[in-house]
Amino acid sequence: MVIIESIDKMKNEITAYKEKGLSIGLVPTMGCLHAGHISLIKKAIEENDIVIVSIFVNPTQFGPNEDFDKYPRTRKKDLEICRTNSCDFVLLPQSDEMYPEDFLTFVEVKSLGKVLCGISRPTHFRGVTTILTKLFNITKATRAYFGQKDAQQLIIVKKMVEDLNMDIEIIGCSTVRENDGLALSSRNTYLNDEERKDGLLLYKSLTLAKNLILNGEKNIEVIKKEMENTINSGKNTSIDYIEIVNSKTLKPVSKVEDNILIALAVKVGNTRLIDNIFIDLREKAI
Ligand code: PAF
Repeated sequence: MVIIESIDKMKNEITAYKEKGLSIGLVPTMGCLHAGHISLIKKAIEENDIVIVSIFVNPTQFGPNEDFDKYPRTRKKDLEICRTNSCDFVLLPQSDEMYPEDFLTFVEVKSLGKVLCGISRPTHFRGVTTILTKLFNITKATRAYFGQKDAQQLIIVKKMVEDLNMDIEIIGCSTVRENDGLALSSRNTYLNDEERKDGLLLYKSLTLAKNLILNGEKNIEVIKKEMENTINSGKNTSIDYIEIVNSKTLKPVSKVEDNILIALAVKVGNTRLIDNIFIDLREKAI
């Protein structure tokens, strides 16, 4: 496994593989790798000749009062995980090379980034799409892998690739959960025992919504209210949003229809957790 910190070095290494016609799988991460990331790495290895994991805590996707400084940085353990999972390259870009002082360009997927998480994190997705554009250009990846836990991110990245005719395939992979349902997230490391228990309410409310729908409930307000009651039963929970939207446009739906995304963000203590499920009534819930 080769660890690369320089953009030019990464580009040079990859050029040789591309010239031979080999496929490149990219797993973009901010580190603090867990089983969710490992599932992306495994899928990338299955589907590509060469796999790159990038680790970069991207400053432009954090708002001024968010957790950029305290975001967990576990480089040694992350590299070990990449090594044991047979990654070919780990890209560890340097912040001053990614964002030099004269950096001016941002990529924004307009309306999709302004709803759901974009309401309380107005510059977040612009930061995500900008760093991903850079990573896609640097690695010349054939495919890039993302967890469905960040559903809005996944939908936005797919739209960016479509709109900007980027030569990359975006692969969404199922959310990985603890046995009790908590979606894996690097931010779970912030939770104390009591908060972790409250964190379980996110998946509990999603499961409740899914069951209501599968039993024929079509009224969005009824479903949202039940979810709200579940979340509010926690001692440390405060709802940022609970939304039921079309899974492509992210526009709220007025009644349960074929392709919906049920998404929520909840503050548990000081930690903001997100989770979601996609429901396709033709295939039942996924
Ligand atoms: O999902 C993440 O970890 C980040 O948003 C990403 C895609 C690595 C961009 O910094």
